[in-house]
Amino acid sequence: MAATKSVETILLGHPGAGRDHLIPILQEVQAEEGFLSKAAIAKVGAELHLPASKIFGVATFYNMFRFQPKGKYHVMVCRGTACHVKGSKRVLDMVTKTLKLQPGETSRDGLFSLEVVACMGACGLAPVVNINGQFHAKVTPMKLQRILDECRNQELTHVEQ
Ligand code: FES
Repeated sequence: MAATKSVETILLGHPGAGRDHLIPILQEVQAEEGFLSKAAIAKVGAELHLPASKIFGVATFYNMFRFQPKGKYHVMVCRGTACHVKGSKRVLDMVTKTLKLQPGETSRDGLFSLEVVACMGACGLAPVVNINGQFHAKVTPMKLQRILDECRNQELTHVEQ
């Protein structure tokens, strides 16, 4: 596995960075670490002379940023137009209710995290859900319920072994 870049290394790649570099820097940090930790935000803030509260405020405005590590099963629900027309809202409602998670959150046991995305480029398969990189096509709430149950069962099998 390739080593991840530290926040310090990312900041070194943006010498003399100002506020206008904030979003690209945060994107890089998230790409490396999977989420924006408080420590990472503090380091970026120290470098850009911005208070952490300001960075947090800006980052929460964009729904691409997450502030918790991803779960073992990262569930991405597409809410693009094609998926919306085919019922992705019902799918999303089922996930938020079943997993008791809002987009951007990770379950306490670290098993599931939820993300809402605009379009996954697979509109012909709408509505689409992606779990850990695997696409699930023409998803219904019931179908997704079965998939989530399978993920849970896999965990139980691992624990019992
Ligand atoms: S709108 Fe969902 S894949 Fe394009």
